Amino acid sequence: MSETVKFSYGGKDFELPIIEGTENEKAIDIAKLRAQTGLITIDPGFKNTGSTTSSITFLDGELGILRYRGYNIEELAEKSTFLEVAYLLIYGDLPTQHQYEKFTREITTHTLVHEDIKKILEGFPSNSHPMGVLSSLICSLTAFYPESLDPNRNEDAVNLSIVRLLAKMPTFAAWAFKNEVGHPVNYPDNSLDYCSNFLKMMFALPAEKYDVDPIVAKALDQLLILHADHEQNCSTSTVRIVGSSQASIFASISAGINALWGPLHGGANQAVIEMLEQIKADGGDTKKFLDKAKDKNDPFRLMGFGHRVYKNFDPRAKIIKKAADDVLLKLGVKDPVLEIAKELEYAALNDQYFVERNLYPNVDFYSGIIYRALGIPTDMFTVLFAMGRLPGWIAQWKEMRHNGEPIGRPRQIYTGAVDKHYVSMNKRG
Ligand code: SDX
Repeated sequence: MSETVKFSYGGKDFELPIIEGTENEKAIDIAKLRAQTGLITIDPGFKNTGSTTSSITFLDGELGILRYRGYNIEELAEKSTFLEVAYLLIYGDLPTQHQYEKFTREITTHTLVHEDIKKILEGFPSNSHPMGVLSSLICSLTAFYPESLDPNRNEDAVNLSIVRLLAKMPTFAAWAFKNEVGHPVNYPDNSLDYCSNFLKMMFALPAEKYDVDPIVAKALDQLLILHADHEQNCSTSTVRIVGSSQASIFASISAGINALWGPLHGGANQAVIEMLEQIKADGGDTKKFLDKAKDKNDPFRLMGFGHRVYKNFDPRAKIIKKAADDVLLKLGVKDPVLEIAKELEYAALNDQYFVERNLYPNVDFYSGIIYRALGIPTDMFTVLFAMGRLPGWIAQWKEMRHNGEPIGRPRQIYTGAVDKHYVSMNKRG
């Protein structure tokens, strides 16, 4: 008999099963709680609540461990490529040479988008934030591929949508940037690898020759690997719950992009740079801003610090911090906000408020500094986060649909008015 949890309520004794995962994590299975006791559980922000079982990503917040399909992030970041990691996450293991060549060839030959996308793009004023443009263009794929709306499509048809998403995301991301700065868009160049093609679509200008810097392309590829999945975070949970209503994969990913946009989530990488710039403009007084972050009456938070799960160093932050030093050195870039970031990190890691709350730098703290060194404009940082997270969202959506999970529909405890009666307007006070 597997482990159970016993409790008493209303003069009766109850017993619920405990489930255990492959990394010895345990949960109380409350599927029958309401039927047996009339009770539900409540947990704002789901800090103690699991929404599903999953075999895609494992992270241990206490030990600072992150694994994609069992492979440590440190090893994948050093030895793999983003598209190989995308295959690993989506299809369950590392591809053979043949599988990888077929996968990358399919993606390369789907990078072009329908010319009518330009008409949608032209509808967005210059200076539109590229995240709003990106989520709209991704959702517009439901119009160009209406067959994607059929919830009962076969595996091959779903795989074609997956290839289209991975292939067209860089094109849409680069075009959203071009729209923001009022430059003409660039078509994909299928002779280039995934990241080089994105960089060229983003930075090439009609008047000038553009050669991709291999250091920049390699650094970007590693950053995308580090962002590729992170179990049931806010945006992934959004993708899963939208997909649970049998909405199309394009609509589900578009919803995930919007959830990621928030400054408490993927939008933090943009907010970190804005915060560091604010500290620099204010004279670089890191202690003043640390005190602001600790002041409960001040809404200011140390962006890029803290994490719902990691109560130790975010393993991605360690890799990105080292990569930031390497990339800036290789590119000969001196960025004063990097020094401010290091000062802030040192001060926070030695401050009781942050130590007792286990607030460490997260993935967003240093990523913005690298993006800046690579020439990426600040409000494109979260777009790059979305590009990286795309295979994770896809893998999670596919797992949820493959497992036939029910539509997500949480319950609530009602705290509003009780038993009120209608009074005609002329008699209301
Ligand atoms: C991402 O979930 C994921 O996996 C996300 C992500 C992914 O890969 O998908 O890892 C990506 O979103 C990383 C997080 C990026 N966000 C930021 O950097 C924004 C700044 N950080 C926070 O706002 C906060 O830490 C969260 C949102 C990340 C986590 O918030 P929680 O888990 O809800 O924790 P909390 O807000 O309840 O904070 C606990 C305490 C509070 O103080 P007390 O009430 O105990 O006195 O810590 C304090 C908070 O005030 N606190 C901070 C702080 N973060 C938490 N105080 C100052 N600065 C901060 N950054």
